[in-house]
Amino acid sequence: MQKNVTRKDFLLNASKAAVGITAVAGISSLVTTANTQARTQITAWPWPYTQLDPEAARIQAHNFYWNGKDCCAGSFGGITTLLAAALPDPWVNLPMEIMLYGRGGGNGWGVLCGCLNGGAALISLVTSKVDSGPLISELWGWYEQAELPTDQANLVGTSGGYLVHNYDGALPQNVSGSPLCHASVTEWCLVAQKKISDTERKERCARVTGDVAAKTVELLNAHFAGTFTPTYTDPAAVAACLDCHGSAVFNNVMTKMDCTPCHITAHKTGSIVEEVGGSPSSFVLSQNYPNPFNPSTNIRFSLPQTEKVRLEIYDIQGNLIKSLVDYELYQPGNYEVTWDGSDNRGSRVASGIYFAKMQAGKFAHTKKMNLVK
Ligand code: HEC
Ligand code: HEC
Repeated sequence: MQKNVTRKDFLLNASKAAVGITAVAGISSLVTTANTQARTQITAWPWPYTQLDPEAARIQAHNFYWNGKDCCAGSFGGITTLLAAALPDPWVNLPMEIMLYGRGGGNGWGVLCGCLNGGAALISLVTSKVDSGPLISELWGWYEQAELPTDQANLVGTSGGYLVHNYDGALPQNVSGSPLCHASVTEWCLVAQKKISDTERKERCARVTGDVAAKTVELLNAHFAGTFTPTYTDPAAVAACLDCHGSAVFNNVMTKMDCTPCHITAHKTGSIVEEVGGSPSSFVLSQNYPNPFNPSTNIRFSLPQTEKVRLEIYDIQGNLIKSLVDYELYQPGNYEVTWDGSDNRGSRVASGIYFAKMQAGKFAHTKKMNLVK
């Protein structure tokens, strides 16, 4: 018959085993106090939280950054240290070093800012899955838009309030627009004219570690006081792209990050579209002029409402020749764009019949054009 070993039995046996090994080997220093305590209680997730002082978390996190814990374990440990002081069980049993991997955006890979990683890990440990999502988005969304390090972080520095004083001056600030360590740190270095290895850069990340720890505590305090109201929504630029690429339509792009810095040329055709005045009451694709034409012609279109527009030139066999407007969002108005008679690769096309095809929401229309050389 199989014996049912509960998790409690397992842990008790494991800790007895640890004590046993210690006795045999006589190397008690290898086993920490926490390991040798036979824990009789298993703390269910989520772990307990208590109201903390955000400014105390800031100072602790900054201190850990400089004392070998770096950004990720720094923001995490800045908070767990306060929790361990207030609620020893279970917090004393959790080494902040579990988060060391997050330094430099993940072992120097520059992916997710380590401070954010540490803050989010803490949130996930003390809140339910349903609650953690909005809290994490709030933290990361704030980070994307905030001037970092914050004024408060600089003020603590210039007033000598940190425990480590490698650099106490005010530091330049930047808004990264991204949760990526790579974007945030690299742009700061450009703004501040500093190198990654400079003390000021390290102090910058130490202050940001403090900022994120303080912000995480503020959010958790509010959450547990019942006063947290999520304010994060995808910025307009992200929402515009996710209209199509998000779950409602294509459902094949996973991100909340602003798309445009990385996809600078996506849907950009290089054509110049000019607004020509007036407020149209219907969708129109006008006949091109001049027509017949050589070498270029102008095409006007009208939108009575905001729409994403696609305007393309096809040849008589139905091949796409040129994208003039590629799923770009336009406000209501009359617009004009010039087709210079070249294809998407920049080569001039031959004489013949071409079609201008426009799509805007449900509106679709085609005009026949004649290139005569
Ligand atoms: C109206 C719908 C729509 C919107 C809005 C939209 N896209 Fe697209 N996107 C498409 C479609 C359809 C494709 C498939 C490729 C094609 O046929 O053009 C595509 C393809 C892409 C591709 C891969 C092809 C390429 O261009 O290399 C990228 C990257 C892309 N979109 C990024 C973006 C970004 C960034 C935004 C926001 C600025 C955005 N898209 C907004 C419809 C849209
Ligand atoms: C941090 C940079 C970054 C951000 C932000 C980003 N992407 Fe991408 N995206 C990439 C990279 C890198 C690839 C892979 C490109 C490749 O292999 O050609 C990719 C691939 C894609 C593709 C498939 C590309 C193809 O050639 O078919 C689409 C579509 C796309 N991204 C859309 C988006 C949309 C929409 C957003 C915003 C909601 C977004 N991306 C945000 C970096 C980014």
